Amino acid sequence: MEWKNRLTSLLGIEYPFIQAPMLGITTPAMVAAMSNSGGLGSLPVGGLPPERVAALIAEVKALTSRPFAVNLFTYDIPAVDQPEQFEQMQQFLQQLYKANGLAVPAVAFDAVKTYSYREQLPALLAANVSLVSFTFGIPDESSIALLKEKGCLLLGTATSVEEAVALEKAGCDAVVAQGIEAGGHRGSFLPGPLPQVGTVALVPQIADRITLPVIAAGGIADGRSAAAAFCLGASGVQCGSVLLRSPESAATPHHKDKVAAVTDTGTRITRAFSGRWARGIENALMDGIDASGLPLNVYPVQDALTQAVRKVAKELDDPAFIVMYAGQAAQMAKALPAAEIMEALRMAAEKILTRGPQIPQGA
Ligand SMILES: Cc1cc2nc3c(=O)[nH]c(=O)nc-3n(C[C@H](O)[C@H](O)[C@H](O)COP(=O)(O)O)c2cc1C
Repeated sequence: MEWKNRLTSLLGIEYPFIQAPMLGITTPAMVAAMSNSGGLGSLPVGGLPPERVAALIAEVKALTSRPFAVNLFTYDIPAVDQPEQFEQMQQFLQQLYKANGLAVPAVAFDAVKTYSYREQLPALLAANVSLVSFTFGIPDESSIALLKEKGCLLLGTATSVEEAVALEKAGCDAVVAQGIEAGGHRGSFLPGPLPQVGTVALVPQIADRITLPVIAAGGIADGRSAAAAFCLGASGVQCGSVLLRSPESAATPHHKDKVAAVTDTGTRITRAFSGRWARGIENALMDGIDASGLPLNVYPVQDALTQAVRKVAKELDDPAFIVMYAGQAAQMAKALPAAEIMEALRMAAEKILTRGPQIPQGA
């Protein structure tokens, strides 16, 4: 089957299959595996120090000469100015850790530090990155102008039709339509209630409203959901959770076991981990914070607070206190190499899309 379409031509890839950027999970090996197999790998660098960004880009470049995207968090970092709320949450967390036998260093309020996409841009420009995807908002006008001047293509994330329209207006080249099924943070950025539209409803409505290629994300875990996305009007698909158990994933062994065992109802969206809405597998950390009733700090302050235990839990491989972002279809992830997973998904979608008009018989 001919997979070439306007998205593959735009991005310079063979197949319109994109590995979702997954901060904390995606390794340079995963990005390269995906790009080398003809799809598009995505390197997440949201909030990382510029020198780390440069090093990660160099690592990917050493493994592939094919196109890959670098993924940014494009939001304005809010003022970090609520020390009392921070300390209240810190005290609660320390009690929770002690009750669970964990020794976790306290986080200093003054030490909360994240890097804005503006600070990271020079590293991307110096490395001649040609594809930039982003979430949490739209880069400011001067950053967009800078990237465009260098010939960079921009892929923005939308969780509603209104956000997709805003991304098109700002000059994006393609839009990732992220349904509520998706694992990880919601990319939502417009004021108002959190958009909670499912992929099946979101993709066709966005495809009808904008002229840019639409990339479907959220719940795409096998050939059936991938084929469905193309039928809904998507020009490409972006998959994250389905790669969580791959050897290229940085998830710990017990974390991978939790993904294998999670049910369709075993994830929920919460602000507990980071201060921003995100979907993850329920565990003691999520339940504890959600049940505390305490006011949550804004992103990235809440995120910085929970980073301390996440680091300890990762070393101990204790999934009760690891942040396990995952989508509603995460249980369909297989413990296979990333490129094999995506190839099987593509071949299965191809079979469905080429078998011609017939009444589907189901599984
Ligand atoms: C563990 C994890 C981390 C994620 N981190 C990012 C990120 O850094 N940047 C981003 O744009 N999206 C991130 N996402 C969201 C994905 O880009 C994508 O929308 C989502 O994985 C698609 O849904 P699925 O998980 O059902 O495949 C993350 C998702 C997961 C599961």
